[in-house]
Amino acid sequence: MDSTLTPDERRAASHPPRHVAIIMDGNGRWAAERGFSRIRGHRAGAESIREIVRSAGELGVRYLTLYAFSVDNWKRPTREVSALMRLLATFLSREEAGLQKNGVRLRAIGRIDGLPREARAALGGVIARTAGNTGLTLILALNYGGRSEITDAVRALCLKSARGELRAEDVDEEMISAHLNTAGIPDPDLLIRTSGEMRLSNFLLWQISYAELYVTPVYWPEFRRAEFVQALLDYQTRERRFGCSSANPARQGRQ
Ligand code: FPP
Repeated sequence: MDSTLTPDERRAASHPPRHVAIIMDGNGRWAAERGFSRIRGHRAGAESIREIVRSAGELGVRYLTLYAFSVDNWKRPTREVSALMRLLATFLSREEAGLQKNGVRLRAIGRIDGLPREARAALGGVIARTAGNTGLTLILALNYGGRSEITDAVRALCLKSARGELRAEDVDEEMISAHLNTAGIPDPDLLIRTSGEMRLSNFLLWQISYAELYVTPVYWPEFRRAEFVQALLDYQTRERRFGCSSANPARQGRQ
């Protein structure tokens, strides 16, 4: 284990969750409390992304899914939406070298076809160029909604059925999982939400069935390495039961 880690970090890294998913909330409130524009709040949020991606890899997390833009975020003012899309493209081009250096593989979930062309191109480029990396898998949820994802999976299954490739009785949980955007990615073990709201906001509705929840009042721009380590340490105190009366290692192995 890395000797440069602090004692808390070492403890967090001794038994990290395999997959952490984060609802990054509070950029707007963080900015408003300081008299800044919301866009400046999002820029500060992008700095937190950089720090958490790096920390997650160093602490042994294998998958990190970040809710970066929801299907409902299009309802925000056009100026804010455009700024977020530009920020995405800038973030990707600025961070690519760091992602490569740290062996991070980028993926995206959501209705990616619905993103502006420049954002799609930037995303597609980094996804392709990091595809061979074997460190942390960073999954950006963009134009993402849990209900739309499930709807798309049901449509795909119906199409297969109509073509005679599938019988209704063959549909099981594994098959549904395999038709979601997250096919092949283990379900999150830990879901973090910043800025205190107790909501799921249409994030990974199918996949978080057995995830541990951690809600912190800290706004996303202030959620940095130390806060992430606290979340991982809190996760270690949970007894995961998966619906059984005692922890079931077989099920834990699957998750
Ligand atoms: C919520 O803050 C945050 C988002 C809209 C998504 C996260 C976006 C970033 C971290 C910045 C951009 C990074 C990329 C890669 C696009 P909010 O505006 O809902 O905060 P509020 O609830 O306090 O208003």
